[in-house]
Amino acid sequence: MSGDLSQKIWPRGAFRDRNGVVCIGGISANDLVREFDTPIFVLDEDDFRARARQWRSAFEDSFGIDGVTVYYAGKAFISVAVAKWVSEEGLGLDVCTGGEFAIATSADFEPSRIAFHGNNKSLVEIQNAVAARVGLIIVDSFYELDRVAQTALAEEVVQKILLRVTPGVEAHTHEFIATAHEDVKFGFSINTGAAGEAVRLALASPHLELKGLHSHIGSQIFDTEGFEIAAHRVIGLLGAIRDEHGVELESLDLGGGYGIAYVEEDDPLSPEALAQRLYEIVKVKCDSYGLEIPHISIEPGRAIAGPSTVTIYTVGTVKTVELDGGRSRSYVSIDGGMSDNIRTALYDADYTAVLANRLSTESLSASRVVGKHCETGDIVVRDVELPIDITPGDLLATPATGAYGRSMASNYNHVPRPPVVAVSNGKARLIVRRETQEDLMRLEVPEGGS
Ligand code: LLP
Repeated sequence: MSGDLSQKIWPRGAFRDRNGVVCIGGISANDLVREFDTPIFVLDEDDFRARARQWRSAFEDSFGIDGVTVYYAGKAFISVAVAKWVSEEGLGLDVCTGGEFAIATSADFEPSRIAFHGNNKSLVEIQNAVAARVGLIIVDSFYELDRVAQTALAEEVVQKILLRVTPGVEAHTHEFIATAHEDVKFGFSINTGAAGEAVRLALASPHLELKGLHSHIGSQIFDTEGFEIAAHRVIGLLGAIRDEHGVELESLDLGGGYGIAYVEEDDPLSPEALAQRLYEIVKVKCDSYGLEIPHISIEPGRAIAGPSTVTIYTVGTVKTVELDGGRSRSYVSIDGGMSDNIRTALYDADYTAVLANRLSTESLSASRVVGKHCETGDIVVRDVELPIDITPGDLLATPATGAYGRSMASNYNHVPRPPVVAVSNGKARLIVRRETQEDLMRLEVPEGGS
């Protein structure tokens, strides 16, 4: 039964029971809140795992089982439990800091299936990654090329690397999450010749094995046009490398960035359609340069984690304001806000919310879901129709908060970060506990104390 919750934006299997209560993973929001309080991130484990499997099998169907590696981009959301699920579902893991790497290590994630990213990895991060024998380091700058080579020399290994290149593509997304145009901090520019120079240096280093190229054009992208332009330029570079050095590089990583539906109007491609489209793009470009299709990798983060999670909040106050033209708007304040979901404020992202703890047959009114932080921009859902009888103590649920929600959470206004509760088959368990005031106070160094 799926009640009236759209499977496009809610975790698979989420529904409203006959009392109108939102249920996720077979557990009602009311039960979850009784046990874990609010705000909470409720992560549907089966949904997460199913999406991980779906991305993997869609790409294996298009590129061949040995022709592709799907890395889960841990920056979307990572915890020890999640890293274990990713491993069990047979995906690789993309980490981009020592912190994400430490989680992977705690989860006993096989290092050879880890790809280490980042535009400014510290020497210690590089040393730990090389010492642990990570499968790939994605090198982002000339400094890093040197640092990885020196570290590999000291460790007496040959480190496999990809070079991150910027193909000069304007991706159709918010400017803060577009990454492949020229005026950006990431990678070696193809246009300026920096990428060609990095290839020369990498091929000449006895401590580096250049496996291939990496390009990530940005995030929350719905069309394949950007990927097509990027593939054209990056595969062009593979052709130029073959012509100059006589080597066909084995691997091409197309990055992540595949969009999801946050609201009904969003219309992302299915993994199957996307895999087929990317296969066609890569095939046509490789054919035109007379290249074999390289081993492809992709790094979806949001598309796996995002739809798996729902945030549940408690309503604290409701205020109605009169707008021009006789309209009005209800400001519904919840017990979280920009400290657990910065995306609306930062990227102008769209979300929706529903009354989660009961049925209401009242009429709907234009509403804005706002947080408890001291600023006007502390908005979680900019525009949503909510029943006019919403009242303090009611629960609101916001779907599709699994990616870049908890992972970008902050302690703004000294608000402790919410827990993550995994649900599956009617059972709930904490995988990240709630932060407490004591956790925050532990960082304080008493003044003048001994
Ligand atoms: N690979 C690389 C190299 C990346 O930089 C990223 C995201 C990904 C993969 C995963 O992208 P995804 O499939 O999750 O879109 N905080 C922003 C997103 C920043 C993404 C940064 N890099 C947001 O909330 O939209």
